[in-house]
Amino acid sequence: MRTEVIIIGAGPAGLMLGRLLELAGVDAIILERKSPDYVLGRIRAGVLEQGSMDLMDRAGVGARMHAEGLIHHGIELSFDGDRQRLDFTDLIGRHVMVYGQTEVTRDLMAARQAQTIYDAENVELHDFDTNPYVTYTKDGVTHRIDCRFIAGCDGFHGVSRQSVPQSALNTFERVYPFGWLGILVDKPPVADELIYAHHARGFALCSQRSPTRSRYYVQVPTDEKVEAWSDDRFWDELRARLNPETAEALQTGPSIEKSIAPLRSFVAEPLRFGRLFLAGDAAHIVPPTGAKGLNLAMSDVAVLADALIEAVSEKSEAGINAYSAKVLDRIWKAERFSWWMTSLLHTFPDTGAFGRRIQRADFDYLASSRIAQQSLAENYTGLPS
Ligand code: FAD
Ligand code: DHB
Repeated sequence: MRTEVIIIGAGPAGLMLGRLLELAGVDAIILERKSPDYVLGRIRAGVLEQGSMDLMDRAGVGARMHAEGLIHHGIELSFDGDRQRLDFTDLIGRHVMVYGQTEVTRDLMAARQAQTIYDAENVELHDFDTNPYVTYTKDGVTHRIDCRFIAGCDGFHGVSRQSVPQSALNTFERVYPFGWLGILVDKPPVADELIYAHHARGFALCSQRSPTRSRYYVQVPTDEKVEAWSDDRFWDELRARLNPETAEALQTGPSIEKSIAPLRSFVAEPLRFGRLFLAGDAAHIVPPTGAKGLNLAMSDVAVLADALIEAVSEKSEAGINAYSAKVLDRIWKAERFSWWMTSLLHTFPDTGAFGRRIQRADFDYLASSRIAQQSLAENYTGLPS
């Protein structure tokens, strides 16, 4: 079999890239290790920047997002119970959309006409410096697909980045000594907007998926086991980290999902190796505090799609030559912002009394400076590409 582009991974990056190529008439096949149900069952990000909304529209899949997504004009920050609202619309004339990654994935899957091969095992990348091809096993049979380009959209643990010789790759990493324990519940959100809370007991986030479905997180140590957290224990801990009024208003119920996500900052450089390109979590990881992971994946593939469309139609290789440097510029700015939000809002084992005062001063500066608020708002709603 032969195609123009093989996309490894049917997460949001792979599906969006596939959709953009499909609309441009470029032949592409997606290879995904898991089943469609498994992919749709993953509860992950929840906030879309304007650029991601625009990309959903460009991909022709924005209708349900506009109908069901919730426009948020701001967020609340809370520090030891003291509250500060940031009004993005007032500060910089922009907003974000609450629309879950699951829904983005569902819309992209539904729109796709071209071939996606699910349950593809033992995916291997070959000869991507010259004449690339990919092999995989399905139902015990090994297959080969030849192509002109490979897009590695297979997440942090995927095979694409691992196929690159270590000597060709520079990696930058920070692993945080904590994770987020998240819970999904069919109860109305505690507030209209998201609340990011710093507390001496640890960080907490009140998020949402719809007017009747809420998503809450609390910071826990890295080695914590999800089985150790009954729903009651979770709700007690969350209440303890919120300001009393918010804690009082919280509507609790049985969790419909509960999981722990580790926190990590990671960047690989470069993102092109001959005819192989890395995009999304395969290329970089941000701690979730700035809500950037899904949005970065979207901005990567927007650039990659244009570059591949240009190259496949033999118009120009300028786009594929510029891809790595262009997206890394944006990636590092999002890495900085996510690291900074994480540093401000979490408790670290070595924070100490001095560190807590610095965090407090950072919060007080934000509360008192419109310029500081504009900077946060500009980064949170998405830097221009
Ligand atoms: P992924 O969504 O990881 O998709 C990669 C796909 O490749 C997967 O479907 C995988 O099955 C497939 N794959 C992997 N290996 C292979 C292989 N060898 N062969 C074929 N296919 C393969 N971001 C936020 O902004 N907020 C959050 O709250 C948040 N929570 C998260 C929680 C968790 C547990 C994780 C892991 C991430 C979270 N993120 C969050 C990050 C966000 O979800 C990611 O940035 C986003 O999913 C990136 O999309 P992607 O398509 O690049 O990668
Ligand atoms: C969600 C996750 C985030 O990391 C974030 O910053 C905001 C919202 C969420 O899952 O809803």
